[in-house]
Amino acid sequence: MFTHQAPPPRRIKTTATPTTMAKDEPVAGILLGDSCYWHPDQVANPHGCIIGGSGAGKTQTLKAIAHASRTDLAVQIVVIDFHGDQAIEGETCHPIHMESPHGINPLVINLDRQGGGPNLKAIELAMLLRKTLTMGPNQEGLLIEVIKDCYSERRIFQEKPMSWLLEPPNFADLKFKLDTRVEDKEAVKLRLKMSAMFEYGIFCKPQPPLGHHTRWDLSKLPPELQAIAGDALASQVMNAHRLLGDTTGLRTLLFIDEAKELGHSRALDRIAADGRKYGLGLWVASQSSRHISKDVLSNTFTKLVLPVDASELPLTARTFRFSQEAIAALNPLESLVRFGKAASKISITPYYQRCG
Ligand SMILES: Nc1ncnc2c1ncn2[C@@H]1O[C@H](COP(=O)(O)OP(=O)(O)OP(=O)(O)O)[C@@H](O)[C@H]1O
Ligand SMILES: [Mg+2]
Repeated sequence: MFTHQAPPPRRIKTTATPTTMAKDEPVAGILLGDSCYWHPDQVANPHGCIIGGSGAGKTQTLKAIAHASRTDLAVQIVVIDFHGDQAIEGETCHPIHMESPHGINPLVINLDRQGGGPNLKAIELAMLLRKTLTMGPNQEGLLIEVIKDCYSERRIFQEKPMSWLLEPPNFADLKFKLDTRVEDKEAVKLRLKMSAMFEYGIFCKPQPPLGHHTRWDLSKLPPELQAIAGDALASQVMNAHRLLGDTTGLRTLLFIDEAKELGHSRALDRIAADGRKYGLGLWVASQSSRHISKDVLSNTFTKLVLPVDASELPLTARTFRFSQEAIAALNPLESLVRFGKAASKISITPYYQRCG
């Protein structure tokens, strides 16, 4: 987890200062390209957002920042990889698919006494699954009840925080509980709706620790499961940092390319809103700002615009306050960079040029 061997956090100020430096100044932060550095110590928050069309350079930019964060800033890296192309030197990769020995457990409890516990997890998860499973209020209520049942079966109770430390149930427990409710029509329907999820088995297997420099390769999963797995991971990363307590430093950066699948993730909204306090930064990339929630966009200080599809020009220009002409003139791996009010145009130094 994040409690061991964590590097000393980097100090972060809460005010914005220019981040573009002359070449003869001491190098600090991460080189984005040309003489432009991203310096988490000097920006309002350690979050970043990259928008770009197909082949514009999103993946190469995100990988470059992740790699440099690890080597130059010594912060921990967690990558949620929806396309399977985010490998970075020195990482530990957990491929998550039907055949893999590992899974992800969406029932891991948030240990924060104020905002955690099994009951809140049951509600959170039911809310997340509501859309995927097209559940009405009855089924959602039933799911909450069954999840709570799974926890109490393992002697985990909301009112006994010490019990939250026990091994949590996983979806195998949930499947078993639903299978026993053969008399209950709603339970039978819910079980049917969840059969694909149970079939894949990824939420029924043991989960490896979040660890250091880990990449979670979710590329083999269907989009619905990617969304649940990605949200569970982001939520676990946030909860682990909240437990570590406040810091003025940067402990970890979470990277998510093609963030479309997590456009409705409450976990990402929480990280964007509160992650800075706990030393957690979020970098997301997507083809359109439409795929990124308003909360994430508005709480992200650093923004990079790469070439976008012509249909995205008006929205991108409006959202990031650049002219349509300036965006239209960009070539792949050229970016308009905005640090709050300051903006410049740079050529990104891609990952493939940093690591051959
Ligand atoms: N190893 C490499 N050597 C040379 N050029 C590369 C290499 N990898 C990628 N590129 C080029 O870098 C540019 C950016 O590629 P990248 O994969 O980052 O784009 P992307 O925005 O992620 O695209 P997509 O939406 O298809 O995922 C492309 O023009 C690509 O051809
Ligand atoms: Mg890509």
